[in-house]
Amino acid sequence: MELTESRLAGLLGTRQFRFYPQADSTNDLALKWLTQGAISGSVVLADEQIKGKGRLGRSWYTPPGTALIVSVILKPAAQHLPRVTMLGALVIAEMLEAVGTAHVGIKWPNDVQLNGQKVSGVLPEAVWEGKELRGVVLGMGINVRIDFTNTELADRAVSIEPFLGHPVDRADLLVKLLSRIDYWSPQLGTSELFRAWESRLTTLGHEISLQNGGQLVHGKAESVDEDGALLVRDITNEFHRILAGDIALGR
Ligand code: BTN
Repeated sequence: MELTESRLAGLLGTRQFRFYPQADSTNDLALKWLTQGAISGSVVLADEQIKGKGRLGRSWYTPPGTALIVSVILKPAAQHLPRVTMLGALVIAEMLEAVGTAHVGIKWPNDVQLNGQKVSGVLPEAVWEGKELRGVVLGMGINVRIDFTNTELADRAVSIEPFLGHPVDRADLLVKLLSRIDYWSPQLGTSELFRAWESRLTTLGHEISLQNGGQLVHGKAESVDEDGALLVRDITNEFHRILAGDIALGR
Protein backbone atom coordinates (compact mmCIF):
# COMPACT_ATOMS: atom_id res chain seq x y z
CA MET A 1 0.00 0.00 0.00
CA GLU A 2 1.15 3.49 -0.76
CA LEU A 3 2.16 6.03 1.83
CA THR A 4 0.04 9.12 1.43
CA GLU A 5 -0.60 12.21 3.48
CA SER A 6 -4.24 11.28 4.15
CA ARG A 7 -3.46 7.70 5.12
CA LEU A 8 -0.76 8.87 7.50
CA ALA A 9 -3.12 11.48 8.98
CA GLY A 10 -5.60 8.71 9.79
CA LEU A 11 -2.93 6.51 11.36
CA LEU A 12 -0.94 9.07 13.29
CA GLY A 13 -3.86 10.77 15.06
CA THR A 14 -2.67 13.85 16.95
CA ARG A 15 1.03 13.35 16.20
CA GLN A 16 2.60 16.22 14.25
CA PHE A 17 4.02 14.98 10.95
CA ARG A 18 5.18 16.19 7.56
CA PHE A 19 5.13 13.87 4.57
CA TYR A 20 7.02 14.51 1.33
CA PRO A 21 6.59 12.33 -1.78
CA GLN A 22 10.18 13.31 -2.56
CA ALA A 23 12.72 14.91 -0.24
CA ASP A 24 16.42 15.69 -0.30
CA SER A 25 16.94 14.54 3.29
CA THR A 26 14.27 14.04 5.95
CA ASN A 27 16.94 14.74 8.57
CA ASP A 28 17.62 18.17 7.08
CA LEU A 29 13.88 18.93 6.94
CA ALA A 30 13.45 17.79 10.55
CA LEU A 31 16.48 19.83 11.70
CA LYS A 32 14.89 22.91 10.16
CA TRP A 33 11.51 22.13 11.74
CA LEU A 34 13.20 21.61 15.11
CA THR A 35 14.81 25.05 14.97
CA GLN A 36 11.39 26.48 14.07
CA GLY A 37 9.89 24.99 17.23
CA ALA A 38 8.61 21.48 16.42
CA ILE A 39 7.48 19.57 19.49
CA SER A 40 9.05 16.33 20.68
CA GLY A 41 7.67 13.31 18.82
CA SER A 42 7.13 15.18 15.55
CA VAL A 43 7.94 13.13 12.49
CA VAL A 44 9.19 13.83 8.96
CA LEU A 45 8.62 11.15 6.32
CA ALA A 46 9.47 10.79 2.66
CA ASP A 47 8.57 8.27 0.00
CA GLU A 48 11.74 8.93 -2.00
CA GLN A 49 14.91 10.48 -0.68
CA ILE A 50 17.45 11.78 -3.13
CA LYS A 51 20.16 13.34 -0.94
CA GLY A 52 19.84 11.16 2.13
CA LYS A 53 22.68 11.41 4.60
CA GLY A 54 24.43 8.36 6.00
CA ARG A 55 26.93 8.00 8.82
CA LEU A 56 30.52 9.17 8.41
CA GLY A 57 29.57 11.59 5.62
CA ARG A 58 28.24 8.91 3.31
CA SER A 59 25.16 9.28 1.12
CA TRP A 60 21.99 7.18 1.45
CA TYR A 61 19.78 7.11 -1.63
CA THR A 62 16.30 5.63 -1.47
CA PRO A 63 14.19 4.95 -4.59
CA PRO A 64 10.45 5.78 -4.40
CA GLY A 65 8.15 3.34 -2.62
CA THR A 66 10.91 1.05 -1.36
CA ALA A 67 11.73 2.01 2.21
CA LEU A 68 10.57 3.60 5.42
CA ILE A 69 12.37 6.94 5.53
CA VAL A 70 11.68 8.71 8.77
CA SER A 71 13.20 11.35 11.03
CA VAL A 72 11.80 11.75 14.54
CA ILE A 73 12.35 14.90 16.58
CA LEU A 74 13.18 14.23 20.22
CA LYS A 75 14.07 16.46 23.15
CA PRO A 76 16.13 14.36 25.54
CA ALA A 77 18.14 15.67 28.49
CA ALA A 78 21.66 16.49 27.26
CA GLN A 79 23.26 13.83 29.46
CA HIS A 80 21.20 11.17 27.67
CA LEU A 81 22.26 12.17 24.18
CA PRO A 82 24.54 9.12 23.66
CA ARG A 83 21.49 6.94 24.36
CA VAL A 84 19.64 8.23 21.28
CA THR A 85 21.85 6.10 19.03
CA MET A 86 20.94 3.03 21.10
CA LEU A 87 17.28 4.01 20.99
CA GLY A 88 17.27 4.12 17.19
CA ALA A 89 18.75 0.66 16.72
CA LEU A 90 16.67 -0.83 19.50
CA VAL A 91 13.29 0.40 18.23
CA ILE A 92 14.02 -0.81 14.71
CA ALA A 93 15.02 -4.23 16.05
CA GLU A 94 11.82 -4.40 18.10
CA MET A 95 9.69 -3.31 15.15
CA LEU A 96 11.21 -6.10 13.06
CA GLU A 97 10.57 -8.62 15.83
CA ALA A 98 6.96 -7.38 16.06
CA VAL A 99 6.36 -8.23 12.38
CA GLY A 100 7.73 -11.72 12.89
CA THR A 101 11.25 -11.31 11.58
CA ALA A 102 13.77 -13.78 13.00
CA HIS A 103 17.57 -13.37 13.16
CA VAL A 104 17.48 -9.68 14.11
CA GLY A 105 20.74 -8.34 15.52
CA ILE A 106 22.50 -5.04 16.07
CA LYS A 107 26.01 -4.54 14.73
CA TRP A 108 27.63 -2.00 17.04
CA PRO A 109 26.74 0.80 17.29
CA ASN A 110 23.48 1.01 15.40
CA ASP A 111 23.26 -1.05 12.21
CA VAL A 112 20.27 -3.35 12.47
CA GLN A 113 20.89 -6.58 10.59
CA LEU A 114 18.92 -9.60 9.46
CA ASN A 115 21.14 -12.67 9.40
CA GLY A 116 24.20 -10.42 9.37
CA GLN A 117 23.04 -8.19 6.50
CA LYS A 118 22.18 -4.55 7.01
CA VAL A 119 18.46 -3.76 6.86
CA SER A 120 18.54 -0.22 8.22
CA GLY A 121 20.70 2.74 9.08
CA VAL A 122 20.36 5.23 11.91
CA LEU A 123 21.66 8.80 11.90
CA PRO A 124 21.03 10.97 14.98
CA GLU A 125 21.83 14.68 14.63
CA ALA A 126 21.75 17.07 17.58
CA VAL A 127 20.98 20.79 17.58
CA TRP A 128 22.73 22.89 20.23
CA GLU A 129 22.12 26.47 21.28
CA GLY A 130 25.32 27.34 23.08
CA LYS A 131 25.55 24.75 25.84
CA GLU A 132 21.84 23.88 25.66
CA LEU A 133 20.58 20.93 23.71
CA ARG A 134 17.63 22.11 21.63
CA GLY A 135 16.79 18.61 20.44
CA VAL A 136 17.83 15.66 18.34
CA VAL A 137 16.69 14.40 14.99
CA LEU A 138 16.72 10.61 14.92
CA GLY A 139 16.92 9.64 11.25
CA MET A 140 16.13 6.06 10.27
CA GLY A 141 16.16 4.42 6.87
CA ILE A 142 14.65 0.94 6.78
CA ASN A 143 14.92 -1.18 3.63
CA VAL A 144 11.50 -2.63 2.87
CA ARG A 145 11.70 -3.68 -0.77
CA ILE A 146 14.93 -2.26 -2.18
CA ASP A 147 16.33 -4.75 -4.67
CA PHE A 148 20.06 -5.08 -4.02
CA THR A 149 20.55 -7.87 -6.57
CA ASN A 150 23.52 -7.17 -8.86
CA THR A 151 24.56 -4.13 -6.85
CA GLU A 152 27.77 -3.74 -4.87
CA LEU A 153 25.66 -4.07 -1.70
CA ALA A 154 24.17 -7.44 -2.71
CA ASP A 155 26.01 -9.45 -0.03
CA ARG A 156 25.83 -6.79 2.70
CA ALA A 157 22.32 -5.30 2.50
CA VAL A 158 18.86 -6.81 2.71
CA SER A 159 15.21 -5.71 2.61
CA ILE A 160 12.41 -6.90 4.88
CA GLU A 161 10.01 -8.24 2.21
CA PRO A 162 12.36 -10.65 0.43
CA PHE A 163 13.61 -11.76 3.84
CA LEU A 164 10.11 -12.47 5.15
CA GLY A 165 8.77 -13.69 1.82
CA HIS A 166 5.58 -11.61 1.90
CA PRO A 167 4.53 -7.96 1.46
CA VAL A 168 4.66 -5.59 4.42
CA ASP A 169 2.88 -2.27 4.76
CA ARG A 170 5.24 0.62 5.52
CA ALA A 171 2.49 2.40 7.46
CA ASP A 172 2.16 -0.61 9.75
CA LEU A 173 5.94 -0.62 10.28
CA LEU A 174 5.79 3.09 11.07
CA VAL A 175 3.05 2.70 13.68
CA LYS A 176 5.01 -0.10 15.36
CA LEU A 177 8.24 1.91 15.24
CA LEU A 178 6.66 5.01 16.76
CA SER A 179 5.00 3.03 19.52
CA ARG A 180 8.42 1.65 20.54
CA ILE A 181 9.89 5.18 20.42
CA ASP A 182 7.07 6.44 22.64
CA TYR A 183 7.73 3.57 25.03
CA TRP A 184 11.49 3.99 25.30
CA SER A 185 12.13 7.71 24.92
CA PRO A 186 10.97 8.57 28.48
CA GLN A 187 13.35 5.80 29.67
CA LEU A 188 16.49 6.89 27.83
CA GLY A 189 18.67 6.92 30.93
CA THR A 190 17.56 3.56 32.29
CA SER A 191 19.54 0.35 32.50
CA GLU A 192 16.51 -1.43 30.91
CA LEU A 193 17.09 0.46 27.67
CA PHE A 194 20.82 -0.20 27.82
CA ARG A 195 20.28 -3.92 28.42
CA ALA A 196 17.65 -4.24 25.67
CA TRP A 197 20.18 -2.74 23.21
CA GLU A 198 23.19 -4.64 24.55
CA SER A 199 21.39 -8.01 24.46
CA ARG A 200 20.87 -7.66 20.69
CA LEU A 201 24.47 -6.76 19.86
CA THR A 202 26.08 -9.39 17.64
CA THR A 203 29.54 -7.80 17.88
CA LEU A 204 30.57 -8.79 21.40
CA GLY A 205 33.05 -11.64 21.73
CA HIS A 206 34.29 -11.26 18.15
CA GLU A 207 37.64 -10.19 16.74
CA ILE A 208 37.16 -6.86 15.01
CA SER A 209 39.12 -4.13 13.27
CA LEU A 210 38.30 -0.48 12.99
CA GLN A 211 39.74 2.93 12.35
CA ASN A 212 39.79 5.00 15.51
CA GLY A 213 40.91 8.59 15.01
CA GLY A 214 43.46 7.70 12.32
CA GLN A 215 44.65 4.62 14.22
CA LEU A 216 43.79 1.07 13.10
CA VAL A 217 42.65 -0.98 16.09
CA HIS A 218 42.49 -4.80 16.01
CA GLY A 219 41.23 -6.78 18.92
CA LYS A 220 38.38 -8.51 20.67
CA ALA A 221 35.15 -6.59 21.22
CA GLU A 222 34.81 -7.32 24.93
CA SER A 223 31.89 -5.21 26.08
CA VAL A 224 30.02 -1.93 25.82
CA ASP A 225 29.66 0.71 28.50
CA GLU A 226 26.51 2.60 29.50
CA ASP A 227 27.27 5.40 27.01
CA GLY A 228 27.34 2.85 24.23
CA ALA A 229 31.13 2.95 23.75
CA LEU A 230 32.77 -0.30 22.62
CA LEU A 231 35.62 -1.69 24.70
CA VAL A 232 38.16 -3.50 22.54
CA ARG A 233 41.14 -5.46 23.94
CA ASP A 234 44.10 -5.67 21.58
CA ILE A 235 46.79 -8.41 21.54
CA THR A 236 48.96 -6.43 23.96
CA ASN A 237 46.00 -6.48 26.39
CA GLU A 238 45.52 -2.76 26.02
CA PHE A 239 41.89 -1.59 26.13
CA HIS A 240 40.52 0.87 23.59
CA ARG A 241 37.30 2.73 24.29
CA ILE A 242 35.66 3.40 20.92
CA LEU A 243 32.87 5.94 20.71
CA ALA A 244 31.98 5.71 17.04
CA GLY A 245 33.16 4.04 13.89
CA ASP A 246 32.63 1.32 11.36
CA ILE A 247 33.82 -2.07 12.48
CA ALA A 248 34.79 -5.02 10.33
CA LEU A 249 34.82 -8.56 11.65
CA GLY A 250 38.26 -10.19 11.78
CA ARG A 251 41.57 -8.65 10.82
C1 BTN B 1 23.91 4.89 7.96
O1 BTN B 1 24.84 5.33 7.28
O2 BTN B 1 23.86 3.71 8.33
C2 BTN B 1 22.79 5.80 8.41
C3 BTN B 1 21.79 6.08 7.33
C4 BTN B 1 20.65 6.93 7.80
C5 BTN B 1 19.65 7.22 6.69
C6 BTN B 1 18.43 7.91 7.20
S1 BTN B 1 17.12 7.86 6.03
C7 BTN B 1 16.19 9.00 6.97
C8 BTN B 1 17.17 10.02 7.50
N1 BTN B 1 17.39 11.11 6.57
C9 BTN B 1 18.66 11.16 6.15
O3 BTN B 1 19.12 12.01 5.35
N2 BTN B 1 19.36 10.15 6.68
C10 BTN B 1 18.56 9.36 7.60
